[in-house]
Amino acid sequence: MAARSVGLLTRLPLCSQRPAQVPRPAFRLLSCPGTVAADVRSEEHLVAKPGSEDKAPKKRFSEVQKERREQAQRTVLIHCPSKISEKKFLKYLSQHGPINNHFFYESFGLYAVVEFCQKDSINSLKNETHTPCLDTEAVIPFKSRFFNLKLKHQSNRISEPLCTQSSSQSPPSSKKLFELLNYAESMDDQLNTLLKAFQLTEENIKLRYLTCSLIEDIAAAYFPSCVVWPFGSSVNSFGKLGCDLDMFLDLDEIEKCDVHKNVGNFLMEFQVKNVPSGRIATQKILSVIGECLDHFGPGCVGVQKILNARCPLVRFSHQASGFQCDLTTNNRIALKSSELLYIYGSLDSRVRALVFSLRFWARAHSLTSSIPGAWITNFSLTVMVIFFLQRRSPPILPTLDSLKSLADAEDRCVIEGSNCTFIQDLNKIKPSGNTETLELLLKEFFEYFGNFSFNKNSINIRQGKEQNKPDSSPLHIQNPFEPSLNISKNVSQSQLQKLVDLARESAWILQQEDRHQPSPSSKRPWGLTTLLIPTAGSKFLPKKKRKKPVSERVKSLLESIKDNSPESSTNTDGKTAMS
Ligand code: GTP
Ligand code: MG
Repeated sequence: MAARSVGLLTRLPLCSQRPAQVPRPAFRLLSCPGTVAADVRSEEHLVAKPGSEDKAPKKRFSEVQKERREQAQRTVLIHCPSKISEKKFLKYLSQHGPINNHFFYESFGLYAVVEFCQKDSINSLKNETHTPCLDTEAVIPFKSRFFNLKLKHQSNRISEPLCTQSSSQSPPSSKKLFELLNYAESMDDQLNTLLKAFQLTEENIKLRYLTCSLIEDIAAAYFPSCVVWPFGSSVNSFGKLGCDLDMFLDLDEIEKCDVHKNVGNFLMEFQVKNVPSGRIATQKILSVIGECLDHFGPGCVGVQKILNARCPLVRFSHQASGFQCDLTTNNRIALKSSELLYIYGSLDSRVRALVFSLRFWARAHSLTSSIPGAWITNFSLTVMVIFFLQRRSPPILPTLDSLKSLADAEDRCVIEGSNCTFIQDLNKIKPSGNTETLELLLKEFFEYFGNFSFNKNSINIRQGKEQNKPDSSPLHIQNPFEPSLNISKNVSQSQLQKLVDLARESAWILQQEDRHQPSPSSKRPWGLTTLLIPTAGSKFLPKKKRKKPVSERVKSLLESIKDNSPESSTNTDGKTAMS
């Protein structure tokens, strides 16, 4: 299910570098200056031109996770009346302590995300908060950090809407996307434009961590020191507005804290219940947490317990944030995979731009889907892009083995017998000397995989080279941390053929394209836009048939993007069925 889009009132301009012809929406930032805005600006390096990488030290994945979790723990979510005086609202909340930053967004009502400077402020606010009394229904008095604000005095109401210029947190409309891409100055500019328009915003990221933090509070009723970490595209740097929120309920964090507690001659253990296997333990834990979310979790709706999947999960919608959530608990390797992808996405500014465009391309041609099935997942596609970038000369990305060779003692990580060691400090990885343009890389990607020996070879980012396929699956992409597993085991021969045909066709289109930008008035799709136009069927069409009238192609492009956006996770069940 696609995540519901959320209208956000504090968005920054999507593209600060657009040519003058493009009419740009003017957004008003309501959050405290110097917080959100500064963070968003600090992301600019991610779309810099090759060779102009930001030299500022980059944070480790674990640092980002810890910092954001700590911020989220000082944050509350408040459902507000639609017309409210922002000034009075902030003054009222400031009674409980200073506010670090805040923003408003719209999602079936107006919501405020308010980050206090100190955690204590939340207790103070909770102490002053009442449990509602309803005439016709009974309430479950669960006291979370998700509040409802009611107006006692009409004077707090303002006659004007809170914000005259409100922007939506959902991706730009298909029309807007088409305009943005058509007005870009070059194909490289097009790829970077798409990334900027669709990447997760600072506010969206905060909302994701806050949602995890609210779920953590619920799970903590049973496991007081548990941590709920976001993983997958919410944190691996490849998340697109509207993607699902993958969560990992970490119960081992408790054990880590307790390691050094036993001193002297005795060893104290908890009395626990035993079950026959880890899988059963996982199922029992998720079953109870699922019930808890269903019965007590404010804003958690449509809770499904999918416990018989290979990787058991609880799926639900978090209404207030609009996120479709998947909660797992025995999935530590997936968290490590997210860290690896985060490193790859942060090493070179071209990686994310290329991955975003290829995810878009795959979605536009129905190579990926939000429904689980025999098609490739966004995760597998991303690993293919990483592999391709490892194969460039000189390589743009290092192999996993070379990241392992850079690791020191503190990086050592073994999860359930799988060695997941690699260097965590991005700043110690030497940047690539490769200066190829995005346009060239995109074309070469299509040529590379349009001619790849999928019948013989496996894709392996650990060694960065093709290897003989160990089995007969049509597409074999080795799981980076569990080499005996294939992350694309679900992909059928016909889906693989479709991918190959489309890659060849796209390479062909790029060869034929007059890559110089036509005049803006011509409205003719060019460059990346032409690749996003679905062709009739997925077959490699003969030259004559390929050129549809422009108006028809534009129309189908608009239709396809409209249907597919906002994108939810691709094949989330796929991961459970595959490796
Ligand atoms: P979206 O499509 O934007 O949701 O991308 P995603 O990367 O979040 O994918 P998804 O929600 O399907 O899966 C979440 C995470 O689980 C991925 O990022 C991977 O770390 C992991 N994962 C997904 N599929 C597989 C798989 O087949 N094998 C393994 N080992 N991990 C997987
Ligand atoms: Mg996901």
